[in-house]
Amino acid sequence: MTTYFLGLETSCDETSAAVFTDDRRILSNVVASQNDLHARFGGVVPEIASRAHLRHLLPVIDAALAQAGIGLADLAGIAVNHKPGLVGALLVGVSAAKALALALGVPLLAVNHVHGHIYACRLAAERDIFPCVGLVVSGGHTSLFRCADALSLDLLGGTRDDAAGEAFDKVAAILGLGFPGGPAVERAAAAGDPKAFAFPRAFAHDDRLEFSFSGLKTAVLYACHGQNLSAGEPPTGQRLADLAASFQAAVVDVLTLKCRQALRKTGLPRLAVGGGVTANRALRASLQAMCDKERAELFIPPMSLCTDNAAMAALAVEKWNRGEYAPDDLDAEPNFE
Ligand code: KG4
Ligand code: ZN
Repeated sequence: MTTYFLGLETSCDETSAAVFTDDRRILSNVVASQNDLHARFGGVVPEIASRAHLRHLLPVIDAALAQAGIGLADLAGIAVNHKPGLVGALLVGVSAAKALALALGVPLLAVNHVHGHIYACRLAAERDIFPCVGLVVSGGHTSLFRCADALSLDLLGGTRDDAAGEAFDKVAAILGLGFPGGPAVERAAAAGDPKAFAFPRAFAHDDRLEFSFSGLKTAVLYACHGQNLSAGEPPTGQRLADLAASFQAAVVDVLTLKCRQALRKTGLPRLAVGGGVTANRALRASLQAMCDKERAELFIPPMSLCTDNAAMAALAVEKWNRGEYAPDDLDAEPNFE
């Protein structure tokens, strides 16, 4: 007999519901994006995100159940990404999950969203990927983990300031490109020379597994507008392409370098990468080339599992197998730990 679960994700600006089974088959993964609502502000506005989750969540749950061809009564458990994230946004998913679990009389399962980004690699691979080094690169996180198993992740290091995706978004704003910035910067970079500007690679000559992107962001700002920020208009044409390509190359270089250091330090033969920035083709190619040289296996999920989505909450299956249910008074937690 198949055991079905509903997973919910509302940690940032995607409202998502997924139906998955105890053998990790993803039967549906419906995502309602809020990009249009936040675009004119150049970033996610927490209060707008929370209100949009409220409007979207029930229709998204209905669509996920319909696509999977099941009803609420078929569910054996409700999983929810309850941390980390925007607390008001998380609360919408957590409240809905608690209400559904209570009403249906089924267990509630709480999942860490960042751990879920790594688990997306496990879902896509359809085989065990642990132990591995894990890298999560998104709008909110740039973190390296030693992953002993799906639920045992030790932080090896993270960013001191901006996350990699945040840097893409802020540089896109400096360059006069739209939001979300990552895809726009990648498009602009396609016609550019990645060596045109020598942007900084923080901690490159250091064996600390840490990142910093704020100095890089400032370097792009100065390259665009001069040290006294006098030049008004955003760059255009070849100059825009060169700035975007050189910035992207700096981010890709440090992410690749730190992953190589983490593989060597831990001696692990596998690298699993998740989060929205993983959509970047230059990053994928660079990580693949590095892993080939290091004789390590690289796991990167398809796009639909890289950006925020509720199928990642299938990490709850591991908790289900261990009987680790969440308490009825589960809370949304903004911070990682
Ligand atoms: O994982 P995600 O969907 O949401 C968070 O949890 O943050 O990641 C969104 C981030 C944004 O900062 C976006 O600019 C970045 O991922 N991103 C990209 C690309 N596509 C999305 N960054 C670089 N290149 C891309 N193609
Ligand atoms: Zn995320």
